[in-house]
Amino acid sequence: MNKFYITTPIYYVNDKPHLGHAYTTIAADILARYYRKQIGDDNVFLLTGTDEHGVKIAQAAEKAGKLPQDFSDEVSAQFQATWQKLNISNNDFIRTTEFRHEEAVIEILLKLKDAKGPSGQPVLYQGEYEGLYCTGCEAYKTESDLVDGKCPDHPKQKLNHLKEANWFFRLSDFQTDLKKIIESGAFKVEPESRKNEVLSFIHDGLQDIAISRASVDWGIKVPFDQDQTIYVWVDALLNYLSALGIKDNSEKFQKFWPAEVQLLAKDILKFHAIILPALLMALDLPLPKVCFAHGFFTIDGQKMSKSIGNVIDPNELVDTYGSDAARYLIISQFPFGNDGDIKAEEFVKKYNADLANGLGNLVSRVLGMAEKYFSSSVPAGKYTADFDLKSFWQTYDKNFSDLKLYDNIQLIQQLVSWCDNYIDSEKPWELAKNNNDKLSQVLYNLIEIVRHLAYAISPYLPETSDQILKKLNIQSVEENYREIGLVKEGTKLDKGESLFMRK
Ligand code: MSP
Repeated sequence: MNKFYITTPIYYVNDKPHLGHAYTTIAADILARYYRKQIGDDNVFLLTGTDEHGVKIAQAAEKAGKLPQDFSDEVSAQFQATWQKLNISNNDFIRTTEFRHEEAVIEILLKLKDAKGPSGQPVLYQGEYEGLYCTGCEAYKTESDLVDGKCPDHPKQKLNHLKEANWFFRLSDFQTDLKKIIESGAFKVEPESRKNEVLSFIHDGLQDIAISRASVDWGIKVPFDQDQTIYVWVDALLNYLSALGIKDNSEKFQKFWPAEVQLLAKDILKFHAIILPALLMALDLPLPKVCFAHGFFTIDGQKMSKSIGNVIDPNELVDTYGSDAARYLIISQFPFGNDGDIKAEEFVKKYNADLANGLGNLVSRVLGMAEKYFSSSVPAGKYTADFDLKSFWQTYDKNFSDLKLYDNIQLIQQLVSWCDNYIDSEKPWELAKNNNDKLSQVLYNLIEIVRHLAYAISPYLPETSDQILKKLNIQSVEENYREIGLVKEGTKLDKGESLFMRK
């Protein structure tokens, strides 16, 4: 891989950032940071942003007594501040109310107007829509989408009955091609269960979709029909292209499009695995390589919702635990991809077990012994421990290429436990009495492993990684950091402060 473009969804500004948004964004950041180390900073592009048009936002703004643009400005700023607090290293932040986005969307719509689908028919046509619309999803609903006549994701929301003349996108024309590229893996929908879900949806038959609304004002106007507003999902999906500068066919666009990975949750899978690829095919543009939909989590067994009062603000987690630990606690809850439950009271337990007593304590212990027995300098030795660091890195890379972010957390924790057991069985405090050579050797091994650990945690815990490297007197990232035995005899070490204070 020589470049890596990764995207998160752009989040609706009707709500301030919550743990669900943070979950996807942190995961994307971890991947981006990993690939920056692999292929260089200039070759990685991480995009996130905010989705600011549509009925849902207009209503939220009205409720707050604000103009939609002012309201969007405020909430979008909250998203940006939260990502900064969580140390998200996004390369850009796109807002759908920005001019650069709007002009790109307009140009794309004009292109679609002239485009023909696989059958040779124009991909856009005028028609009449009659049916139900859920503002919560900002999506049209068919009877088969409903449970007890309600949207299963927004049961409290009243469904609107719409009857309008709209512009339609001939999605049905792309059914065969979509099936082919998903089945062949030319466009990967992951995990496997999500791929099957999308294929069975396609198998049931794709309906054409309305891509404009007459009754909505807050949005981008259809350039060839000013009475219509572009459907918010079409507007939003195009952010992945507008942010790179598709409009001017910029160098950035040429370099980074298509995305290697699009991360999202299962709630918006169909938009990303059906509608976006069909639009791209209509535009004759290459498709993203992987669309990965992770699961949804609940909090203490319940859906996260304002009315239940269990919404967790990621900012508060950072205030309590610091940004690295907050990232860790959010992403280490359950395997990436699955649904899972987050137990609020587990945060403190996990913080103490994995970070304060685990990684943090190991680093203090090792550097404490180096201080006590070798006046804080690296003793003589070469790497002799029977922990296979080479295969550690192989598994680590494989997990990243399979997007198994959680598995690497476990891999790291296993290495921390391995070191604790090694210390307990070698008993350096006894070696100090009678076997100085062995003591040097054991300490050398431990310091070398701590160095590898510092690099391995860096996508997850970037600040902690830097702190450990500083303690090891490594001023800048070593190019060949995975080599074994790079720690040099005589290097001054600095135990300094604990990495994580117990709570
Ligand atoms: N604006 C659209 C996306 C447009 S992308 C072109 C949207 N926004 S959203 O604010 O509702 O964010 C949805 C995304 O937030 C999910 O796909 C997921 O990434 C994240 N999550 C929100 N709640 C979540 C959970 N409870 N669990 C896991 N992820 C969650 O949809």
